[in-house]
Amino acid sequence: MKNVLIYCFAIAFLFIATDLHAQSHLYQDPDAPIDERVEDLLDRMTVYEKIGQMTQLNISMINTTGAASDFTLDEEKTRYLIKNHHIGSFINGDAVAPETWFTFIDGLSRVGMEESRLGIPVIYGIDHMHGASYLAESTIFPHNINLGATFNPVHAYQTGWVTAYESADIGHRWGFAPTIDLGVNPLWARIWETYGEDPHLASVMGRNFVEGYQGNEEIAPFRVAATGKHFVAYSDPRTGWDRTPVQLSMQAIREFHLPPFQAAIDAGIKTMMLNSGEVNGIPVHASYEFITELLRDEMGFEGVVLTDWADIEKLVDLHRTAKNYKEAVYQAVTAGIDVSMTPLNLDFNHALKELVDEGRIPEERLDESVRRILRLKFELGLFEHPFPRNDRLYRIGTEENRLKALAAARESIVLLRNENDVLPARDPGLIVVAGMSANSKRNLNGGWTLTWAGGTEEQYPDDMHTIYTALKNEYPDAEVRLIEAELRSNANRELFNSADLIIYAGGEEPYAEFTGNVTDLTMPQEQLSDVEFLSEFDTPLALVLVQGRPRIFTSVSEKADAILFAGLPGFEGGEAIANIISGRVNPSGRLPISYPMYTGHFSTYNHKPSGVSSSAIYPFGHGLSYTEFVYSDLQLNSESMDKDGSLTASVTISNSGDVSGMESVLWYITNHVGRISRPVLELKHFEKIELEPGESTRLEFEIMPMKHISYPDRYGNRLLEASRITLSVGDLSQEFNIVD
Ligand code: GLC
Repeated sequence: MKNVLIYCFAIAFLFIATDLHAQSHLYQDPDAPIDERVEDLLDRMTVYEKIGQMTQLNISMINTTGAASDFTLDEEKTRYLIKNHHIGSFINGDAVAPETWFTFIDGLSRVGMEESRLGIPVIYGIDHMHGASYLAESTIFPHNINLGATFNPVHAYQTGWVTAYESADIGHRWGFAPTIDLGVNPLWARIWETYGEDPHLASVMGRNFVEGYQGNEEIAPFRVAATGKHFVAYSDPRTGWDRTPVQLSMQAIREFHLPPFQAAIDAGIKTMMLNSGEVNGIPVHASYEFITELLRDEMGFEGVVLTDWADIEKLVDLHRTAKNYKEAVYQAVTAGIDVSMTPLNLDFNHALKELVDEGRIPEERLDESVRRILRLKFELGLFEHPFPRNDRLYRIGTEENRLKALAAARESIVLLRNENDVLPARDPGLIVVAGMSANSKRNLNGGWTLTWAGGTEEQYPDDMHTIYTALKNEYPDAEVRLIEAELRSNANRELFNSADLIIYAGGEEPYAEFTGNVTDLTMPQEQLSDVEFLSEFDTPLALVLVQGRPRIFTSVSEKADAILFAGLPGFEGGEAIANIISGRVNPSGRLPISYPMYTGHFSTYNHKPSGVSSSAIYPFGHGLSYTEFVYSDLQLNSESMDKDGSLTASVTISNSGDVSGMESVLWYITNHVGRISRPVLELKHFEKIELEPGESTRLEFEIMPMKHISYPDRYGNRLLEASRITLSVGDLSQEFNIVD
């Protein structure tokens, strides 16, 4: 009898246990397969809850004042938006202290979980473009234009890795980086956000950022999502002005603008943000061809597609492809967007609900997007770990991270000219520093730093160097004088005459997006006149270009003995520039863009044969060193191959100088025949090496025709004709043939 009773109790217990477990739904089971969790949750959601997951709102909608710098969570607004409108994502906010971010995101996340009927966590997105750029005390790397100049993928990887390491814990789980647009138009206000003009360089750097950012395992149990942006062909507007029309053949888009996005997809990037502009008359946000047929069906992207800022609205008030907002929503959702960065109202929610109620958009279409959104949130661990943590904030701004940013900055500075080897400046007695960027922190960082357009000097860290303070630190025994006003006054003549070195740091003030539109790429006359004036003295003159794009200074380019392209080198940029001027660091940067000579004529290095010879004052790939690298013995293991073959090229590089140095070895091909005209030069492989004086090394490059030489037609078919190919590396070249 006793055993019977025990047996009955055991059975009863099992039923109760099972039943309790059943009350926690499948989607809440962390051990269940994600696909099953997604379907289980999706089945439980109302139409309006699904629409809420497709909506992303700005921080101004949930704080008390609506300012980007206001981190007081308005719980009433937040509860309303999440309880009544089921909003799934929020974005933005200026750089504030880690604890402030933690408290804000913690409050938001808890309201999110409490008020979400099904316990769907919110996800926070932010523009950490070169480190955690909206987090005070964080590590700020050079912008992408500088990372491109390093020709060293490790720096893109480290930028991603450190950004995740410093910002995931406070709840930043969706980073709107990397920008993998192609920097082909020097007038474009956002060229500094790109890795430069070359598709292969941008592909390698973008892939490495994604691997570093999404692959960071130190942030466990969190994971983060990168964003490839801005899909696609955003960066070559005819006027050079941001978000103005692009006219580009599909063949050119496929050959030049798609590769960095394909590389990011192949690296597993989880989200994409769309180009705000129109391409060939169709706004990308309304283009089923671009979003669904190309990005998803052909390129295989399975992640979340996010609009850019208020870009559904722009279909009405900018592009005028939609007669009203509801039609704009219909166009964008039908084209394939998943999340609307609305971000300042609930118009998207109401319009989409009406479209579904009217049957114009089937619920199944919402399900497609919500599946991707839920999958993203499951993959990032948000359901199990929806709240930020503040027990590892010591990770932010560590010396180890700073040294990574310094290494990147050092390798990103390009020595363009060095007449009479005026640099490095050994043991100068008196250095005079002048120019708008000589003692500026914000100019070294550009936009997307602390605030959208770069913040005020006071917002930058007290211990951050400017070029001036870094030089004082670099030359403790020298006198370093700063001239901030009246540069061309007679009172300064004696000083300039008696100096051992004059450093003029010109360039640009920070800007972001359309605020950076210009009508003339020429360096401001004030600066040109300053350089002209300073060149009159017998004192060696070094020009340092601190700028987001290549401002034209041809008229004075031979007036300066030395010229450094500093770009936007980040918080460690001042120190990096001083290290190079003193010779502590041997410069190894190379231009990732063609530096134009004329305001009326721009050309990339990989122009077509009928294009004019590149009119660059300094070409893509140009960069000097304090040592000499000699290329020798370029060998091919075959003189011809068929389309499925491969051949291996090898070359010796030697450091023939008397200082160690890093060298980016760039391998180019020229395909001499193609039924679609072939670029005069194409970068197909690069690697960076370091050699001691007298040291040599031999490098190889295995060339596979379909991978390295074929090219797409307008439909994406790969073409490759029998042809003569020139392979060039350094100052050497060899030919081989592709045979049928
Ligand atoms: C901006 C930018 C985009 C950024 C987004 C969110 O309009 O185009 O790069 O990620 O808004 O700030």
